[in-house]
Order: sequence, then C-alpha cells, then structure tokens
Amino acid sequence: MTQWTPTSWRTKPAAQQPEWPDEGALEAVLKELGSYPPLVFAGEVRDLTAQLAQVAAGEAFLLQAGDCAESFDSFSADAIRDKLKVILQMAVVLTYSSGVPTVKVGRIAGQFAKPRSSATETVDGTELPSFRGHIVNDVGFTSASRQADPGRLLQAYHQSSSTLNLLRAFTKGGFADLGQVHQWNQEFVASSREGERYEALAHDIDRTLRFMKACGIDTVETPYLHEVDFFTSHEALLLGYEEALTRRDSLTDDWYDCSAHMLWIGERTRQLDGAHVEFLAGVRNPIGCKVGPTATADDVRGLCEALNPDRIPGRLTLISRMGADNIAELLPPLLEATRDGEHPVVWACDPMHGNTFTSESGRKTRHFEDVVREVAGFFAAHRDAGTWPGGIHVELTGDDVTECLGGAEEIGDADLGNRYETMCDPRLNGRQSIDLAFRVAELLRG
Ligand code: PEP
Ligand code: CO
Repeated sequence: MTQWTPTSWRTKPAAQQPEWPDEGALEAVLKELGSYPPLVFAGEVRDLTAQLAQVAAGEAFLLQAGDCAESFDSFSADAIRDKLKVILQMAVVLTYSSGVPTVKVGRIAGQFAKPRSSATETVDGTELPSFRGHIVNDVGFTSASRQADPGRLLQAYHQSSSTLNLLRAFTKGGFADLGQVHQWNQEFVASSREGERYEALAHDIDRTLRFMKACGIDTVETPYLHEVDFFTSHEALLLGYEEALTRRDSLTDDWYDCSAHMLWIGERTRQLDGAHVEFLAGVRNPIGCKVGPTATADDVRGLCEALNPDRIPGRLTLISRMGADNIAELLPPLLEATRDGEHPVVWACDPMHGNTFTSESGRKTRHFEDVVREVAGFFAAHRDAGTWPGGIHVELTGDDVTECLGGAEEIGDADLGNRYETMCDPRLNGRQSIDLAFRVAELLRG
C-alpha cells in the first residue's frame, strides 16, 4: 500500500467529477482555497466522533438532516434559521419522547455538490452537461449555465463560512435555549395537528424547566440547557475542494478535512479502489458512507476495513438507503456483517433516496408513507439482529414546500406544483418533518 497523503486520491479513479473547461483555472482556485482559514476545528471534530461513539454504543441517536442541495440563490438568514428551527424541533421531540440524547448534524454549510445518474441531460434534442450543484454550475438549461465554473468553489466556501457563522451564533447564543422551544414552532406548523402535538410537548418541557428552577437549578446558567452542539456535514464529492481544506492538526499531527465536521461518501462513489474511499480513509473526521440495494456483506466489510481499520467507535457511520420495499430483505445481511465482524459502526437510515420516483405530473417526488415505512423496516431489522438503530438521515427544509406526497395535509400529485422549490431531490416540509420525528420517537420507545 502506498502512503496516504491529501493528494494520494489523485492516483485513483474519481467518479462523478465535473469536466472543468480549464484545468489551470481550477488549480489556481484550489491553491487559493488552500490558503483560506479552516471552516471547522479539529477539537470540534473530535467532539463529534465522541458523540457518535455514544451512538455506536446504543446510548444516543443521530439526526442528520438538511437540504439535498444548498442553493446560491436562496441564501438568507431566514432560510438558515428556519432549517435550524425544524432540526431543533425534531431533536427535542426525539429526545423528550424517547429519553435518548440526540446528536445533531446538519446537511448544511457545504452541501452543494451533487452526483448525477447521467453526465448529460437532453431536452428537446439538445444535450447539455447535467446540473452538478451550485458549487459546479447552474441549474438553467443553457450551455452557459451548465458550464463548470471553478469560481463557484470560492463562492461555496464563502457561503459555507457565513452559514456556519450564523449557526454558531444561533446554537451558542441563546436561540437554542430549551426555554425557547415555543419559538421554534413556525406559524404554518403551529396551526396544524403535528404543530399542536409539538406545542403540547413544549408545554411539558416548560413545566419541567420550572420544576428544575424551583429545585434550585439555574437553567440559564446551565450550558447544556442554554446551548446545543450542532455539527455540519456534506457529501465529500469534489475531492479537489476537500483536499484544499484538509489541514494537519497542530496538537495531534493528524489530518482533518476542515470543510465540515463530518463528510460522507455517496452511493455512486463508494468503490473500494476509488479516489473517494482513498481520500476519506486518511482524514480523521467521522465519515459516513451510503449503502444502497447493490451493497453486499463483502462490500460492507471492505468499507469498514478501509475506512476504520482501527475500529474506532464513532469514526464510521453506514447510511442505508434501500427503499421501503427492499429493506427487510437487503439490510439484515449487512447488519450481520458489521455485528459479527465486531465493527463499531453507527447504522443510520436514509429513507429518502431509495424511495424517489417521478409522479404522473412529471415531478420527482417521494411519498411520506414510504419514508415512514423504510424507517420502520430499519428498526425491525435492527431488533432482529440485536443491533442499535442509530439514527436517521433525511432531506428537509423548514419551509412550507410541496415536494413530498402525503403526510397529514395529504399532499397529492396535483398539489406538488404549488410550492415545489428544490433544485434537486424533494424534501420533507416543516410539518412532515415534525410528524416523522414523532413516528421515529415512537419506534425508539417501542
Ligand atoms: C444525497 O444524499 O443527496 C445522495 C445523492 O444520496 P445517495 O448517494 O445515497 O444517492
Ligand atoms: Co438527495
């Protein structure tokens, strides 16, 4: 085996990389990025690994959630705040209803690059490069929009930096205080059945806080009631960008990818001899890896050996995305592989990407009931294997969009066009997200 370095991935095949029109311009941008400050710090990354080790031990639950693809166009304080609100709401529902601590990781502050099932898209006989996320090109169907532009890597860095700055302010500056639980319920959610259920839970929390205060506990001065740890993550797809933000920690001499706390490998780039596995094997961050319907027990053993040979708890999260109809058959052999191999992985369920289809009206969508069904299948498979259903990985937004079918408001195909705003995959809206949290909490309790 050759020695790992931040550039050793360059000797391996890298799937899903854009065609950059000018290699020189790309390398100049990467060099500039390499001189920029890290977005996250090694100590924070180690804290996340420690929290995920608790998940691996069956003592905590992982909530990883956010956009499919962040957008340069809908970049605003309100959008960031509203996404954080719904994630905090879900976390509080999960923790309060199940008594299990929730580790909160956003698909945010860097979730820009998208793998595509086809390198090109053809509309009315015209073939153009596929949209690969705002970090690469634009979504409009013109050759100018679809041209990969390395300047976008810099814009993605700056947007990630401002997003993270606001998230840090919100989560450490009082907005995430448990005394604020009512403030996280947005108006359009509050008036719904899920919103009322949430309000009832928030009232219980208020009562508990008043009780604690009466017992002499100063809730405002107690950091874990006043602040939350909120971590960032994205798919580490563009390896040049990730390499440029990889730095050696001065305390430990280890390498960290400082573009986010946690990075994951997508379903399309998890080849054992590929560049993505090579790159992520060498950085110390917690790593996720998607495993879809084609993954075998051997693949899973190979990924565990490649990405976590020292069997560090919390280092590796396997994110299954099988589809609601397949999970009962396909997940058990993989759970047995990690259990019998004594690999301390976190198992998380992505109930989104195996349940995507095109509706009759031509919209890419998912049905809320399929999402719930896949999570239920995930819990059932873990119960049978005697392993811990460690978490969920979902695509959502705080906004009142109509992108996924079903849920309590019974969104139908004819409603999808009303507020279909995603640039990529359909996301759960605020109400569907809260509903899902209550359903998962019930599974956790059961
Ligand atoms: C995603 O998480 O947005 C994604 C593309 O997932 P997957 O790699 O599982 O298809
Ligand atoms: Co997606």
